Amino acid sequence: MADSTTPDAAAGRCDPARFETFAAGHPFTLYAAAREKEPVALFEHEGWRYRYHVLTRYADIDSVSRDTDNFTSTHGFRLPHLEEGCQPPSEIAETISSTFMGSDPPKHGITRKVLQPHFMPSMLRQIDEEVQGAVDGLIDRLRDRESIEFVSEFAAIVPIFTLMRLLGAPEGDAEKIYDWTNRLVGANDPEYNSEPAQSAAAFMEVFNYGTALLEERETSPSGDLLSAVAMLPKSDSREEMARRGLFTTLLAAGNETTRNSLTGAIIGLTKFPDQKQALIDDPSLIPNAVREIVRYVSPVFQMMRFAKRDVEVGGRKIAEGEAVVMLYGAANRDPAMFEDPDRLDVRRANANRHLGFGVGVHRCIGAPVATLQLEKMIAALLTNFPMIKAASEPDYLRSNFVSGIKRLDVRLR
Ligand code: HEM
Repeated sequence: MADSTTPDAAAGRCDPARFETFAAGHPFTLYAAAREKEPVALFEHEGWRYRYHVLTRYADIDSVSRDTDNFTSTHGFRLPHLEEGCQPPSEIAETISSTFMGSDPPKHGITRKVLQPHFMPSMLRQIDEEVQGAVDGLIDRLRDRESIEFVSEFAAIVPIFTLMRLLGAPEGDAEKIYDWTNRLVGANDPEYNSEPAQSAAAFMEVFNYGTALLEERETSPSGDLLSAVAMLPKSDSREEMARRGLFTTLLAAGNETTRNSLTGAIIGLTKFPDQKQALIDDPSLIPNAVREIVRYVSPVFQMMRFAKRDVEVGGRKIAEGEAVVMLYGAANRDPAMFEDPDRLDVRRANANRHLGFGVGVHRCIGAPVATLQLEKMIAALLTNFPMIKAASEPDYLRSNFVSGIKRLDVRLR
């Protein structure tokens, strides 16, 4: 188990800078121990100049996320893994940190306001039918199959299709984009990148591809999401990087997360067959089930903020310039917020309070698109394959950022 492989873990301390902490997905036992013993735990690393506090309580993560007076995202929004030789080249690190996610109000709000309308239900209705068509087409192709490799044959496909439609990327580029997203999010997984430079190269390839699409929209705007991005100000070089980086941000943020929510849903519904049956018997429960699935799965391990001044969190002092790391999986299993938190309960009354999408000004802008896809995919799978179940252990991505599953065998009947 990942829970006891390091001295920190043995002492109930959960260090998200280390890959082994997440080697078997979320270390829920360790989260519980940390929440109990030291819910705001201070860490230091030789490889990093900042001290960081790791938060495991729902209330603390909720309050830091909402507190943009005292916390900033501009010095980095995720804790790097601190194993030697894994850091990206500094110019890439700088480009990443100058993105939309790494901005604060009021600047952050300018971009958010331009993007937001494209994620409203009225806009999403325009892609609703196409997403349904993609889901139905996939189901048709699997009709005669007994079992499948679920990630590559189902879970990964609809999110890529949806994002490409949303971003107006040419249909023929799907395979290229699939490869890029694996290499971006799997930056530290040897299966996708034998060395960090390869992931950095993927980052630059996507960045340049997105920039080329953006330049097309500048000369001939079409009213789509990228055309709106094309209208954003480009007053200095950092802002211009942020503007060009939006394509990469959306692609990286929207793909794996949705894919892993669905794969995690199949694992959860296999573990709790009564909950699967409840959805088959009453599909009107699916919207709440999707909220519960995002809580239960928590596809993003962590986000980070830096203290702008000395501040207190959960009774502990955080000094100016120190980081706080928010473990969403720990917040989402906090018994102070969710009764019987390790149970997947599709009728859970407060499932909508989960922090899987974050909260506050940076709350996931893509949540409505992810929700739309998850509702359609889960409904279609359960209608057509009511016997569906996970048939292998998940093969986890090596990451301290997203809870990724690379492969899962699934029986359809
Ligand atoms: C189930 C799927 C998803 C999950 C669990 C998820 C989770 C998250 C989380 C935890 C954050 C950070 C919140 C914070 O820092 O407070 C975030 C931000 C973001 N997500 Fe998602 N996400 C998902 C799907 C998507 C999709 C489909 C898109 C795009 C189409 C997307 C685009 C973004 C963007 C652009 C941000 C940055 C928002 C900001 O800084 O204002 N996400 N997401």
